[in-house]
Amino acid sequence: MPAVSMDQIVSLCKRRGLIFPGSEIYGGLQGAYDFGPLGVELKNNIISDWWRTNVYERDDMEGIDAAILMNRLVWKYSGHEETFNDPLVDCRSCKMRWRADHIQGRCPNCGSADLTEPRPFNMMFKTQVGPVPEGGNFAYLRPETAQGIFTNFANVLATTSRKLPFGIAQVGKAFRNEINPRNFLFRVREFEQMEIEYFVMPGSDEEWHQRWLEARLDWWERIGVPRSRISIYDVPPDELAHYSKRTYDLMYEYPSLGAQEIEGIANRTDYDLGSHSKDQASLGLTARVNPNEDSTARLTYYDPESKRHIVPYVIEPSAGVGRCFLAVLCEAYAEEMTKAPAPERLQPVADALAAFLKSAGKSEKISPEHRDAILAQGQALAENLAERLPEIEPLLAMPGADQIELGKKLRGQAQPVLDEHYRTVLRLRPRIAPVKVAVFPLKRNHEQIVATAKQIRRQLQAESGMRTVYDDTGAIGKLYRRQDEIGTPFCVTVDFDTLGDGNDPSLKGTVTVRDRDTMAQERVPIAELQAYLQEKLRA
Ligand code: GAP
Repeated sequence: MPAVSMDQIVSLCKRRGLIFPGSEIYGGLQGAYDFGPLGVELKNNIISDWWRTNVYERDDMEGIDAAILMNRLVWKYSGHEETFNDPLVDCRSCKMRWRADHIQGRCPNCGSADLTEPRPFNMMFKTQVGPVPEGGNFAYLRPETAQGIFTNFANVLATTSRKLPFGIAQVGKAFRNEINPRNFLFRVREFEQMEIEYFVMPGSDEEWHQRWLEARLDWWERIGVPRSRISIYDVPPDELAHYSKRTYDLMYEYPSLGAQEIEGIANRTDYDLGSHSKDQASLGLTARVNPNEDSTARLTYYDPESKRHIVPYVIEPSAGVGRCFLAVLCEAYAEEMTKAPAPERLQPVADALAAFLKSAGKSEKISPEHRDAILAQGQALAENLAERLPEIEPLLAMPGADQIELGKKLRGQAQPVLDEHYRTVLRLRPRIAPVKVAVFPLKRNHEQIVATAKQIRRQLQAESGMRTVYDDTGAIGKLYRRQDEIGTPFCVTVDFDTLGDGNDPSLKGTVTVRDRDTMAQERVPIAELQAYLQEKLRA
């Protein structure tokens, strides 16, 4: 079962250093996060998987990496200066600012309905270029990576001799001055995009749009987000971006947030190449574009069959790395029983839960709406306590639950049972797991066992490129739990048998390999370890 609340994921990311709030030692900066040691591995693995699937495993793709800072004219002709706006409202009572389409006519901070009329707020960040702050000396931080692909269309075409259809992929930072960054990595001001601009013959665009929809759903499945958890939103005409003929938004069912966009797949027609091109009048464009007096290039493709220069249509699959990171964690997250607790261990927890719910039912400190939600959740839990014990923490994190004094007692009763009989495990696809292998010595003060374990770690990482860690900071059971929690697919233990000092001399030169998902253990000769792990990690 995937994560049941976003709090579980936020808490895991904090606990294990996947994500840190940006500039934390100075009080942070809203809408900016840093990826920690495990976070950067997971993020890089997601990006490489996307690149491998979309560039290396196809015959029709090139990649680029364009500069973040671009000539301001790019954003004039792309339409962003004019239209990349969100509707901003001010609350006249508490002075907070909100995005009008994110609130229901009332200030979420103070509840007042005394709001200003919405006014357009351009989301592009400006930065000064050069030492003198004169009027025109500024650039925008790009709000999407896409424009770097369009402005390089002619360069890529000239240097690769590609024929239509073909695509250009790019992964990079984008910046948006969101009015209200929120929901952890979901809506931030600095993020990364994985974008493809796929150029096709006009007339074949609708077919290619469908093909890309299928290809992208396949990738999400491959990375660990099944189709059954993604819905396709066919964006209605009145909600389409200014460049789009049709857009499919892939909506992932995030716990606590509901269905939210993880990727947009747009048919951008000939809008972008047409907008950035000179001689527009002679191009036979179908999109309505602003007249371009500044471009020095004709962004066309010579079609050898019709012997005409045409402006290709563009299909654009555009996904956010952070939203993918979150969805992958939500899907992989599980809290599960490892061995059933005896009924007498569960009874005190059941009693504490009953007392907590009774107290919640009578409490006047919480709103009726929050009370009903807590009672419904708590009763469902009580009916199947052994299976659902890990959901005690999300129950105690529900709005209003912190007002119930007996919550502390419930947590105190549940925690030791959870520690002993349950585990948190990230069932990440091995390919994207931040750490592939963890190596432990059975005894941390045994010189030869420690030296062998460290040697195995060094060799695995250096020779196979698998991120491999060494850990001797606890008993083996505890070390397994710590690796389960971050999704490490394999743990290797070096023991006395490895040295030939155990009960079974035939085990000399072998180690124990423990599988994260099945928890099964196998003896594998050290000489075959690398090949054994590589084979399994290809999954
Ligand atoms: N080039 C098209 C484009 O940028 P978009 O729908 O505005 O389209 C594409 O953005 C993807 O970028 C979204 O599906 C989302 O995954 C991600 N994204 C957009 N704004 C974001 C934000 N403020 N924080 C995190 N991710 C964001």
